[in-house]
Amino acid sequence: MSAVHEVTLRAATPDDASVVAELHADSWRRHYRGAYADAYLDGDVAAERWRVWSERLTAAAGASTTIVAERAGDLVGFAHVIFDHQPEWGALLDNLHVRWDVKRAGLGTVLMAQVARAVLDRPAPTGLYLWVLEQNAAAQAFYDSRGGRRRERALTEPPGGDPNRLNGDPAKLRYWWPDPSPLLLDNR
Ligand SMILES: CC(C)(COP(=O)(O)OP(=O)(O)OC[C@H]1O[C@@H](n2cnc3c(N)ncnc32)[C@H](O)[C@@H]1OP(=O)(O)O)[C@@H](O)C(=O)NCCC(=O)NCCS
Repeated sequence: MSAVHEVTLRAATPDDASVVAELHADSWRRHYRGAYADAYLDGDVAAERWRVWSERLTAAAGASTTIVAERAGDLVGFAHVIFDHQPEWGALLDNLHVRWDVKRAGLGTVLMAQVARAVLDRPAPTGLYLWVLEQNAAAQAFYDSRGGRRRERALTEPPGGDPNRLNGDPAKLRYWWPDPSPLLLDNR
C-alpha cells in the first residue's frame, strides 16, 4: 500500500457481509493456524464467517459498530467493536484485521484510532479491551506499540462454540486501554 491517506473509512452495511467474511476467513487462515484446527480453516471457515457477518451487519445499530477501510473500492481492513461489553474493561474490540498485503503500512493504527473515536463519542465513554491469541506475537507487538496494557491469560473459546474448531486448548491474552484517548490520531 503506498499510503494510508488513500484509504477511506466508513461504517459497514449489510451489503459488506460477503467481503468482510472473505477477508476475515483469509486472515484467520494465514494467522490462526496452529490454534484453530486445519479442518476448520480449510473447510467451514468462510461459510461460518459469512453467517456471522450477515447476522452482525443486519443487527440493530447501537450496541456495536463495524468500520471498514477501503482503497479504490476494495476492502483492505475492518474493525468491529461492541460497546459497554464488560463493566470493568469497557468496550470489546472483537475483530481487527488488515488485508495481508497491506499490513505494516499504518492501517491498523488508523482503524484503532477510529475505534477509539467511536468509544469516546458514546454518551458514557469507557475503556477498550481485546483478546489476542497467545501465539499471535505480531499482533501483540502491534498492541504493545499502541500502548495496550497486557492483562490476564485465559483459554480461547472456539468459533461458534464448536471445540472441534480448535487445536487443543490455545490460550489468549487480554489487552486493555483504560482510556482510549491515546489511540486517537490528529487527523481522524
Ligand atoms: C495486527 C494488525 C491489525 C496490525 O495492523 P497493521 O496495519 O499491520 O499495523 P501498523 O502498520 O499500524 O503498525 C503500527 C506499529 O505496530 C507495530 N507492529 C505492527 N506489526 C508488527 C509486527 N508484525 N511485528 C512487530 N511490530 C509490529 C510496529 O511498531 C508498527 O510501527 P512501524 O511499522 O512504524 O514499526 C495487522 O497486522 C493484521 O491484521 N494482522 C493479521 C490479523 C491479526 O492478527 N489481527 C489481530 C487479531 S487480535
